[in-house]
Amino acid sequence: MAGYQGEDTVQLIKDAADIAEIIGEHVSLKRAGTNLKGLCPFHSEKTPSFTVNPERKTYHCFGCGEGGDAISFMMNFHRLSFAEALKELARKYQIPLPEKPLNPQELEKAQKREALHVANEKAAELFHQLLLSDPGAQKAREYLGKRGIPEEITKEFRLGFAPDSWNFLVNALPKQKITTEAAKEAGLIVPRDNSGFYDRFRNRVMFPIIGLTGRVVAFGGRILDDGQPKYMNSPESPVFDKSRTLFGLYQNREHIRQAKNCLVVEGNFDLLSLVVHGVRNVVAPLGTALTQAHIRSLRGYTDEVILLFDGDQAGLKAAMRSVPLFLSEQVTARIAVLPDAHDPDTFVREFGREGLSKHLEAAMPLPEFVFDKLVAQYGSSVAGKTKIVAELQELIKAIGDQHLQRTLFVSHFAKKLGLTPQQLLEGVITPPSAHSQAARPTASPGKDEAALPMKQRQLLEFLLAYPEYLPAFLDAGLEEIIMNQFGLAILLLLKKQPDLSGGAEQLLEFATGPERSFISRMLISAPSHSEEMREQLAQGMLGWLSTVRLKAKQERLTQQSGEARQTQNAQLEIELMTKKIQMNKPLHS
Ligand code: UTP
Ligand code: MN
Repeated sequence: MAGYQGEDTVQLIKDAADIAEIIGEHVSLKRAGTNLKGLCPFHSEKTPSFTVNPERKTYHCFGCGEGGDAISFMMNFHRLSFAEALKELARKYQIPLPEKPLNPQELEKAQKREALHVANEKAAELFHQLLLSDPGAQKAREYLGKRGIPEEITKEFRLGFAPDSWNFLVNALPKQKITTEAAKEAGLIVPRDNSGFYDRFRNRVMFPIIGLTGRVVAFGGRILDDGQPKYMNSPESPVFDKSRTLFGLYQNREHIRQAKNCLVVEGNFDLLSLVVHGVRNVVAPLGTALTQAHIRSLRGYTDEVILLFDGDQAGLKAAMRSVPLFLSEQVTARIAVLPDAHDPDTFVREFGREGLSKHLEAAMPLPEFVFDKLVAQYGSSVAGKTKIVAELQELIKAIGDQHLQRTLFVSHFAKKLGLTPQQLLEGVITPPSAHSQAARPTASPGKDEAALPMKQRQLLEFLLAYPEYLPAFLDAGLEEIIMNQFGLAILLLLKKQPDLSGGAEQLLEFATGPERSFISRMLISAPSHSEEMREQLAQGMLGWLSTVRLKAKQERLTQQSGEARQTQNAQLEIELMTKKIQMNKPLHS
């Protein structure tokens, strides 16, 4: 960081920055010894490998290798330049920042982003003041009144009014010291065909979209009458990426954390209306389907999401497509479909907060819901099933190589369809061939304890008795070798409750059915081992795990190289065989 900020200042800022606080604002961190742990915000993961060391003021993810200090976190998480990151931290921890020249490119980029933020902030303030007190905004105030939005919410969300004029903002720019360039890049004004500019937002209630650093990054504008389009949104810009931004997340993030779940609604007004009724654990994407980035940013605050949809066909399609995204982010998703002709706004206005929470209790797990919809759509005849399988295969493909999620997904749906997991998978993972047929692992779809192979059962019993070994077992590939549905259910329970310092009896609160009885039986009959014995047992099991895993890997490579041979891909075949040979060499560790 040889450069433009004095080394002293950089050090001062690093010393002042509370890294646990900075990261903790966006990632749920749990104490683990002297460190804090959470799910990495930089990659998809199922078990926390993102570690923060508050004393050394550093973070590191053992999964993806990201790591650094408070400054690099600001840069990577908020997509800031070094100078911007310093500035944010300096502002937060009140360290005076001497002005030093940036290199020309950094300077240009930083200035541009800064200018966009300022343009958006100033526009938001103008729109807001207009809405609060301009005589010309009377109809906007009436409109909000009619929609049940009181002034305190208008103020908190900094709602505004863009007047019915082609040049309200265009004319205000000079006085506000906003350059035409910045206003244009922020999408506030639009170039005319010949020359000059006009206001993008006219006759609209303005919803400022606040980024996670607390600054306005964009607007959504709802028209006051029934003109078209109903909503006008800011275009994407260096400070606004629609697929990562959620309306309301900034304002509601603490409520989401406290509620331990987050509602997702489609509309801006749905969100406001819920907030008015005291339901604050809610966000809304900006007119797009939920993306993986949206889900990941929610994951920093909660691991359960409830989709609250009005049940139209488009909403259902989107809900379906989001299933693999939730699976791969390890976020539980449920869905509550509202009765006909209701959206969250009208529903909460009619039935209130109580009515809504009652309705939410009946929210269905999203995968179940999707399946029922498919059956309703295609029927359960052979032809219908074929279509359902085709749709499910699309979803399975989207899950990618997330082994546990895919296995759960496949066994869940296969069982429902009365198929074996293989049948459902057929044609998805690899087309059957003479070689792959033999090599494919034989998954036992057994849904009860009896179908759980002895060794796997012992592993799970051990982990229930000594959950502190779970991370080590997961690292050793435990998930890959458990192919049995009952076993996976137990594993999932264990993973859901990473802190079992109170003992596995805590799991009984969540477990149901055969898993529950397995756990409670185990709790009663578990022998207790000396620490030394425990460690010995663990090492033995870990050794077994790594052998089994190695064997499975080699089988996969043999299978793949067989396929490479069949398709006469000599290059690939050699590569795969070499890999296999290398695996046989003893590991030095
Ligand atoms: P809705 O039509 O459900 O909007 O669209 P709403 O917020 O409930 O508005 P009201 O109640 O009819 O006044 C859902 C979301 O889709 C996006 C907006 O973000 C909106 O909040 N949208 C909708 C657009 O981006 N453009 C449009 O033309 C319509
Ligand atoms: Mn609506």
